Amino acid sequence: MNKMRVTLLSTALLGGALTLPAAAEDANLGRNLAATCVTCHGKGTTGTGTLDGMPKSQLTQAMKDFKSGARPATLMHQLSKGYTEQQVESIAQYFSQQKAK
Ligand code: HEC
Repeated sequence: MNKMRVTLLSTALLGGALTLPAAAEDANLGRNLAATCVTCHGKGTTGTGTLDGMPKSQLTQAMKDFKSGARPATLMHQLSKGYTEQQVESIAQYFSQQKAK
């Protein structure tokens, strides 16, 4: 009887552990999406500043303004339209956690 309980308990704990990778996947999603931005915003090599360390709210606001046209741009107004609000959130989350160089 006791052995049965232990088995059930560890099954429940294992089940809990198995849900963890979902969160890890989310973190990678931000990084993977951000990789497309780094093509141009990478490490100060292209003249467009790096986005590393930019506060989340600043990046999401900039993307909204580019999307709406409130902020004039040569490229970003088009580019920003390719991302959902949710994707921008993930991207902004990722960059806000990077150390500014
Ligand atoms: C093809 C090159 C290119 C790519 C790719 C690119 N950007 Fe940009 N980005 C620019 C340029 C150029 C500007 C300056 C505004 C303009 O003229 O479009 C800019 C400006 C910005 C700014 C404003 C920076 C500031 O200091 O206020 C933000 C924020 C930004 N980009 C975010 C992003 C994000 C997020 C991505 C990825 C989803 C991205 N960019 C991908 C070229 C690019």
